[in-house]
Amino acid sequence: MNLKGRHLLTLLDFTPEEIQYLIDLAARLKLEKQEGIEHKVLSNKNVVLLFQKDSTRTRCAFEVGAYDLGMNATYIGPTGSQMGKKESVKDTARVLGRMYDGIEFRGYKQSDVELLAEFSGVPVWNGLTDQYHPTQILADFLTIQENFGSLKDIKFTYYGDARNNMGNSLMIGCAKMGMHFTAAAPKALWPREDLIETCQAIAKQTGATLRFTEDAAEGAKDADVLYTDVWVSMGEPKEVWESRIKDLHPYQVNQKLMKLANRNAIFMHCLPAFHGTDTEVGSDIAKEFGKVYEAVKDGELEVTNEVIESKQSLVFDEAENRMHTIKAVMLASLGEEYV
Ligand code: CP
Ligand code: NVA
Repeated sequence: MNLKGRHLLTLLDFTPEEIQYLIDLAARLKLEKQEGIEHKVLSNKNVVLLFQKDSTRTRCAFEVGAYDLGMNATYIGPTGSQMGKKESVKDTARVLGRMYDGIEFRGYKQSDVELLAEFSGVPVWNGLTDQYHPTQILADFLTIQENFGSLKDIKFTYYGDARNNMGNSLMIGCAKMGMHFTAAAPKALWPREDLIETCQAIAKQTGATLRFTEDAAEGAKDADVLYTDVWVSMGEPKEVWESRIKDLHPYQVNQKLMKLANRNAIFMHCLPAFHGTDTEVGSDIAKEFGKVYEAVKDGELEVTNEVIESKQSLVFDEAENRMHTIKAVMLASLGEEYV
């Protein structure tokens, strides 16, 4: 498998075999790290991490991954460059491409990460846009593979805003890997029609199935994985909270829902998650909406504290796996075959 020079903008651009290769490479790098085996095979390279939105996991995964591979990493935060303000994305791409061997981008527009890929001349990795979050899916799928042994035929249900970056990317990933994807959400929050059609066509080839339901309980029946994400994503105005709580509180992942799933089902979340009043937003929402919506009165929004803290919850394995999978992506696009 040779992925040298490849961008990672969306998993739509990758074959199931390529996705499986990246997951397996990550598993190997994880094991090597646990055994104290170093893999500083890219020590002559430098990468830049360009963030228009904040991050904990993605930034740290790229930084630690780069250092583990022997690379240097430069972080540019939301106020750290002129890109899009006094300098075009196209010009920024051409400047960064002269200095760096690879570029990570987190921002708003998918078209911006595509411009960076088109004009920088180096591999570009999408660290989240409004549309897609492909590196997250690799970590999620490594976690599922570790737990269930393989991805094929896993019954995966996503709760919440299914037309955001996570809903879109998980649907693509499940279609590619022959999994059974269900989105449980109000119809208005299902993925856009053209993306569903694209994924249906992929599913036909891989044996995957895609299902969309407004019935939260129906979505949990026989599921192996219950997954959710924040109800309001980065970049959305805070005014949307009210309608999102109204629409999505019946889709909160709680113990009652978990009990409807398979006995050995797991809970997953890309994080960060609202599961109590120990965040500013969680606390504000509880105060403002708790009287109207019983479900959110304790700042538990998309998931209850009981579920995220339960044995079925693999959210911190998933977070750790961001690093191993992102390291595999950088190694595959910058290195020679790793043997
Ligand atoms: N899951 C995820 O992308 O987390 P960060 O926003 O902290 O990078
Ligand atoms: N949908 C979330 C994902 C965070 C990792 C957001 O875009 O904020």
